[in-house]
Amino acid sequence: MELPFAEPYKIKMVESIRQSTRDEREGWIKNAGYNVFNLSSDHVYVDLLTDSGTGAMSDRQWSAMMVGDESYAGASSYYKLQEAVSGITGFPLFLPTHQGRAAENVLFSTLVKDGDIVPGNSHFDTTKGHIEFRRAKAVDCTIDEAFDPDVIHPFKGNIDLSKLEDVLKGHPTEKIPFIIVTLTCNSTGGQPVSMENLRQVRNLADRYGIPVVFDAARFAENSYFIKQREEGYAEKSIREIVLEMFSLADAMTMSCKKDGIVNMGGLIGFRDRDLFNRASAYNILFEGYITYGGMSGRDMNALARGLEEGTEFSYLQCRIGQVAYLGNKLKEFGVPLIEPFGGHAIFIDAKSFLPWIPKEEFIAQTLVVELYREAGVRSTEIGTLLADRDPVSRGNRYPELELLRLAIPRRVYTNNHMDVVAVAFKNILDRRKGIKKGYRIVKEAPIMRHFTVELERIP
Ligand code: F0G
Repeated sequence: MELPFAEPYKIKMVESIRQSTRDEREGWIKNAGYNVFNLSSDHVYVDLLTDSGTGAMSDRQWSAMMVGDESYAGASSYYKLQEAVSGITGFPLFLPTHQGRAAENVLFSTLVKDGDIVPGNSHFDTTKGHIEFRRAKAVDCTIDEAFDPDVIHPFKGNIDLSKLEDVLKGHPTEKIPFIIVTLTCNSTGGQPVSMENLRQVRNLADRYGIPVVFDAARFAENSYFIKQREEGYAEKSIREIVLEMFSLADAMTMSCKKDGIVNMGGLIGFRDRDLFNRASAYNILFEGYITYGGMSGRDMNALARGLEEGTEFSYLQCRIGQVAYLGNKLKEFGVPLIEPFGGHAIFIDAKSFLPWIPKEEFIAQTLVVELYREAGVRSTEIGTLLADRDPVSRGNRYPELELLRLAIPRRVYTNNHMDVVAVAFKNILDRRKGIKKGYRIVKEAPIMRHFTVELERIP
């Protein structure tokens, strides 16, 4: 008999979590304005709000932290990270930042101007926020298949080349500072982009003389999917695939809180010395000196090690396998979800789950609140709240999909926790007819409203 598959690590330290009663949760979520971001984490049993900065570091990472060099300039930790970044990604130049959006802030301050157009595949919300904040426009060129939950496609993060070419044709080159490709594409469900598509985007960009930037938060997971799903890559190592992917980009931003398996950190990779120099000025202004950016020496040490561990095949197999374990359990219970499963998360199709709730009543958020009520599981809405208002008309933007995201932290929960989540959904499915109304907004911020919005139940 073939031996079953198990984690390539064992557990050395544990953190207690507490189950609560339904009555307790009713009170807590009401006080939180029906926004799970406002909950205290000790009121949460299984926290699937995000896979960002929530991973468990290894003993090797913790020990690397003890020998961090906190020198202001030229710290050995910086050189250690430089070696890991250039060895793993192939980018010869990089700037550390405190997280992914900080990397976006620095790079976009250098490149994006008022009136610019930035095409890409369903830009992440902070990416879009940084574009729109500069009065530029993010144009979504993702393939149509990504928005149809019934379509099975191995690379639902892919860019539709004809949509992209229409954008490139329709605007003067100087108005398009770069094309951004998000790996994996978080906003369409943690879906990967194929190597072939990356190559085609590169070729098209070259024809129009426009740079290509990767938003590489989940680059290792993207590589794993290429290895599993794309012809010609099964025999290649994750590291080889990572290098080949990045060779197709001129620059990249990375939130290292995901595949870097650290609690805080980000970086920008460059090939061009002039661009690096221009961005360095903003890095110093916003983040810190160029050899630490927003990170302490110990954090850079942990990241250097995290990049190595995060690109190991056995780790990725276990990590993505756990996400699929949850997906399969939910599927068995008949919960409508997006397939193929994402790399970092399972996305529940809230419109199919609660088809009678009107879009104006925040369908996915309604399900997020129900899940918390049911089992103290914290998830997140990827729907109308996140899509925010149109910057010009100020009307709500209604996305094609209303999703509830279950993002799985790296190396943190066991499959028993996944079972709790799956059964919670089964119970909600059984009583869903009783969920008759959604929510309305009581208070919201002018930008990135989903973090702080307060809601009330519609009676
Ligand atoms: N790009 C992508 C694709 C992301 O998923 C994120 C963060 C960022 C950029 C920004 O990075 O948080 O380090 O500033 N995503 C988190 C999430 C917040 O929950 O998906 P950051």
